[in-house]
Amino acid sequence: MADDPTVAKYHVENGIAWLSFNRPDKRNCMSPNLNRRMGELLDEIEFRDDVGVLVLKGEGAAWSAGMDLKEYFRETEAKGLGATRQAQREAYGWWRRLRWFQKPTIAMVNGWCFGGGYGPLYSCDLAIAADEAQFALSEINWGILPGGGATKVVVDLMPLRDAMYHAMTGELIDGKKAADWRLVNESVPLADLEARVTALANVLLQKNPVALKATKDAIRRVKEMSYDNAEDYLVRAQEAANSYDNDGRKEGIKQFIDDKTYKPGLGVYDRSKQIKA
Ligand code: ACO
Repeated sequence: MADDPTVAKYHVENGIAWLSFNRPDKRNCMSPNLNRRMGELLDEIEFRDDVGVLVLKGEGAAWSAGMDLKEYFRETEAKGLGATRQAQREAYGWWRRLRWFQKPTIAMVNGWCFGGGYGPLYSCDLAIAADEAQFALSEINWGILPGGGATKVVVDLMPLRDAMYHAMTGELIDGKKAADWRLVNESVPLADLEARVTALANVLLQKNPVALKATKDAIRRVKEMSYDNAEDYLVRAQEAANSYDNDGRKEGIKQFIDDKTYKPGLGVYDRSKQIKA
């Protein structure tokens, strides 16, 4: 059967790419088709000049009800190991692309978020949930362990006791508890969710994009390094970022030290004044 291109979609507005899981009648669960499509759309979006931030949201009542138990598990497994491995590569592939995406990313968790959904959730740099959203590692409820990275996600993000409880009980938690347990940055009423995410995206849009990419990668990389290794990595990462954008850094210093038009401790420099070399 040919792929359906509409299972994911995006539009760009004021510097923000709004990318959606778009299978609302299937609660946005992730089929191989959807995973392939997400990979293609990330390719389209990543280096567009008019995109500074990517937001990942779900159409309808769900963010994502996890992996598609029929199409991703049952039907793929029936085709054998090769098909299973391919489906895994496609799913993990777009989550990995998203983890190291060129632009900053925000998960806007509007509703249900289960199991495999924790992969793209973790891949997004920041996550804002609706208070009304519902999260669970429901794997235990149908008899598997939280695979596909989901166990790693909760151990990375949550305190160990909470991660263990969450994975072993499969109980639902709402957006507020997800924020308490650090699965997301914060939760707000659903009615305010899009405005809050837009405001956060606008904060990011004012920052130096080279520095943002270097920063988000550094946060993920140094988490697993010793202090000495991190110190060394950060020197090199800083120098590499400077080589892409030395002028931005110099302008930031100039506007503070010479022009006295801003204070880096209190705000961001005006990038529109930067003269290109
Ligand atoms: N896989 C396959 N189909 C799904 C999935 C899924 N993960 N989630 C929802 N659907 C389908 C349903 O089968 C149903 O299909 P149908 O209309 O053809 O019968 C349709 O989406 C709507 O689902 P309902 O269950 O009718 O929707 P409802 O709003 O009542 O419930 C809920 C929503 C709670 C999300 C429920 O669909 C559900 O429990 N889904 C599974 C969640 C889950 O545990 N996912 C797996 C996590 S583990 C992992 O990802 C590895």
